[in-house]
Amino acid sequence: MRIAIGSDDIGLPLKDVLADYLAELGIEYVDFGARDADPVDYPDVAKVVAREVRDGHFERGLLVCGTGLGMAITANKVRGIRAATCHDAYSAERARKSNDAQIITMGSRVIGPESAKTVLKAWLESEFQGGNSARKVAKIGDVERAESEYLPRASASVTRERDRRPGRRAVRPPPSQRPTGR
Ligand code: RB5
Repeated sequence: MRIAIGSDDIGLPLKDVLADYLAELGIEYVDFGARDADPVDYPDVAKVVAREVRDGHFERGLLVCGTGLGMAITANKVRGIRAATCHDAYSAERARKSNDAQIITMGSRVIGPESAKTVLKAWLESEFQGGNSARKVAKIGDVERAESEYLPRASASVTRERDRRPGRRAVRPPPSQRPTGR
């Protein structure tokens, strides 16, 4: 198994621990994230790792930031990616078995190094169980496709932008707040 990994500057210490642990387990990884304490924005790292996994260059991904949340939110914007934030072994196992999550995210400010290793191991050792879960995971893809084709929202935001021009009212007030008596 090859794993794409990465962290921002906040996640770096935990990522280093987990990278060493992967090496100990004999799992090959490539690090796309922060190299030192210089600030790195988590979306920049999550985007690269998620795309590497999506493109099939790596089977799985591991992302670490302060909470794991920003990394997961960003990675889940990449089509076909299912990233799960896990800070306990049971969730990590279910993320694979039920959700077929190709990416796990963790927060260096949430979990200690030894617990994080246990969580990572549970996730690495679990495989997607298929069956009913395959139908449900396919539905995640259905939602993703439907949303990517949902244009009215885009045109609505264009309208809002246009209405922000000087001389235009940006938001129509609710009926109760509209002027009366005219
Ligand atoms: C720092 O940018 C912090 O917000 C980040 O590491 C992560 O916790 C975001 O979700």
